[in-house]
Amino acid sequence: MATVSSDLSGRRILLIISGGIAAYKALDLIRRLRDTGADVRCILTSGGAQFITPLSVAALSENKVHTDIFSLTDESEMGHIRLARDCDLVLIAPASANIIGRAAHGLADDLAGTVLLATDKPIMIAPAMNPVMWENKAVQENLGILKKRGYTLLSPGAGDMACGETGTGRLAEVPDIVKAVSAFFLQGGPLKGLKALVTSGPTYEPLDPVRFIGNRSSGKQGHAIAEALALAGAHVTLVAGPVKEPVPRLVHAVHVQTAQEMLDACLKALPVDIAVCAAAVADYRPEETSDTKIKKTGKEPMTVKLVQNPDILATLSQSNRRPKLVIGFAAETNDGLENAKKKLANKGCDWLVLNDVSGGKVFGQDSNIVTLLQKNGAGVSADTWPEKDKKEVARDLVAQIAASFK
Ligand code: C5P
Repeated sequence: MATVSSDLSGRRILLIISGGIAAYKALDLIRRLRDTGADVRCILTSGGAQFITPLSVAALSENKVHTDIFSLTDESEMGHIRLARDCDLVLIAPASANIIGRAAHGLADDLAGTVLLATDKPIMIAPAMNPVMWENKAVQENLGILKKRGYTLLSPGAGDMACGETGTGRLAEVPDIVKAVSAFFLQGGPLKGLKALVTSGPTYEPLDPVRFIGNRSSGKQGHAIAEALALAGAHVTLVAGPVKEPVPRLVHAVHVQTAQEMLDACLKALPVDIAVCAAAVADYRPEETSDTKIKKTGKEPMTVKLVQNPDILATLSQSNRRPKLVIGFAAETNDGLENAKKKLANKGCDWLVLNDVSGGKVFGQDSNIVTLLQKNGAGVSADTWPEKDKKEVARDLVAQIAASFK
């Protein structure tokens, strides 16, 4: 069974709402962006505030609305420079002829203008204005300047305008803006164009139709890695054992039960550039699986013969279609570093993420303490990270992956 999920969860969008009757559509835009999981922070210009209220914007975004560059409270809570940087994308919608002109000429006499100069993030602009204003050379030349500087233009549509005239100048439709934002994120990231495979969760090895041998892996860490890889732009196949974790956004998931099914799904996903084997694969499976429920005899102790499962990590590492970067996990209860180094050598992977699971730590929890072992030349480096949320471990691991592909 395969499922695909796609949304903007984890993405932080700074929405600048400037003056114009289309500002009312920004309220719907905030809702639709948030429906996709994005975190939306808003700047409402003084022109924008003539059309919609800061209260509506705050209520819909569930975030503080920023209006004034000289606000002492804003500056002490989050300065305008941080506001400009603490996002993944700046979106100006609707963009009036005024904000287009001021951005083109670098004017910074209000919060929006200042943020546009201070940001180091990509900027998308969705203009909306009267058709004659839209066609005015000054507006078109200013837009030309912004496009040259790398702004992405979401062109206005044609039709009847609120001012009673007809022509081009209507704000792009809200669903189209949301689509453009999603497409932008899919194409963005440092891992753009790369394929990744992630295994996650436990495997269940059946004894009979109702019983299995399994383990306590929740899939939280593996799923978080799949998501972080996808958010960095990789095309991700997640081969997931039986877990409660939802399929992360933007990830193609294949659901399996057994180690053999997991291996088959992984081999089918090749070739990939990156493989992260975070699954807690059962090392052994019952040699025989009964088609019917095994009954107790009440006499003899029962013996189950186990046979070894294929090692997916080793198979991928030693495959003639080997991914460029193969990362394994090692959950250890004792002698972690020593065991992890041996595992790194024996399995043939490039990096190994070691975690200490003594006393039932880690499984099902939200945080993790890991040591990242990396082969470098003939040696191995080991870096122990402070305890972090599993999502943060995933993001930091993906940052290292991205750096290694640079
Ligand atoms: O040998 P051990 O099970 O401790 O190794 C852990 C690493 O090997 C993890 O990355 C796990 O996903 C992977 N593994 C595997 N296939 C197996 C057993 C472990 O891919 N059969």
